[in-house]
Amino acid sequence: AKITLRQLLDHAAEHGYGVPAFNINNMEQGLAIMEAAKACDAPVILQVSRGARSYAGDIMLSKMIDALVEMYPSIPVCLHQDHGNDEATCLSAIRHGFTSVMMDGSLAADAKTPASYEYNAAITERVARMAHWVGASVEGELGVLGSLETGGGEAEDGHGAEGELSHDQLLTDPDQAVDFVRRTGVDALAIACGTSHGAYKFSRRPDGDILAMHVIEEINRRLPNTHLVMHGSSSVPQELQDVINRFGGRMPQTYGVPVEEIERGIRHGVRKVNIDTDCRMAMAGQFRRVAVEDPAEFDPRKFLKPAMDALRELCRDRFERFGTAGHA
Ligand code: G3H
Ligand code: 13P
Ligand code: ZN
Repeated sequence: AKITLRQLLDHAAEHGYGVPAFNINNMEQGLAIMEAAKACDAPVILQVSRGARSYAGDIMLSKMIDALVEMYPSIPVCLHQDHGNDEATCLSAIRHGFTSVMMDGSLAADAKTPASYEYNAAITERVARMAHWVGASVEGELGVLGSLETGGGEAEDGHGAEGELSHDQLLTDPDQAVDFVRRTGVDALAIACGTSHGAYKFSRRPDGDILAMHVIEEINRRLPNTHLVMHGSSSVPQELQDVINRFGGRMPQTYGVPVEEIERGIRHGVRKVNIDTDCRMAMAGQFRRVAVEDPAEFDPRKFLKPAMDALRELCRDRFERFGTAGHA
């Protein structure tokens, strides 16, 4: 059945687990994620970006999710708008059956320029009020995260994730978080705690203290009823980089967020963990492998099936390690 983000994360908080939110654009990703959820008996968040909506179309996506819900009747599914940039995006998502929306007002409506606190609080408050009228949940974002535009570890302010801004300036301010949640009434809050979007998060192997655990703990202590969300949570596993590069890829060496760090976050109140890059890499590695190992192959299913298998195994691992398994 479809459930809201609030319902799912309340349960996760009560039982101390985290829920991966996997990005979805097509049928193959949907089937692979749902197969993993079924194998692990885990509830799932399927999230859809604005790019995904224009890629597949709203009607295709919403009917496809209905089909997945019908095919996997034992799995609770939250259908979530990832990085909504204005009221229209969030409301049209709800109209197409989304049970949850992210209003990302940390950026202006162009989804590039950092927005003022005032703009963010006001637009998020409007979206939350409207969404709650019709029973949908709302995620807001406060802080400076990695770029959606470049997907290249570039921070939302245009500086590199490890660039000119000091670590502290990139993190969510707990006082501001308290004010933001009080004003907006969001159910979940995405915080900047050291991660960025895309594959190129860190150029050196993280030393084990990459997440600002003190910020996570402090926000969680002061906002016990607000679920924390970690964007940019791909681990960019070495094995996936190696598969891509072994079969003709040219991804420069890079490092993501180690899964142990995410597990630590979950112990301190992180409930929703956004993962897209790892899923893309798992599939792309198999496309490359099939293309190189069998150059005469041209049946798309011969590429897509192993890609789905790789994605399913990645999702299974995250359901197990985040403690989601067994909670469907
Ligand atoms: O955070 C963004 C997600 O990785 C979605 O990316 O906008 O290319 O679909 P996209
Ligand atoms: P990754 O690029 O680390 O997978 O992050 C995805 C994300 O935050 C989607 O909102
Ligand atoms: Zn994100």
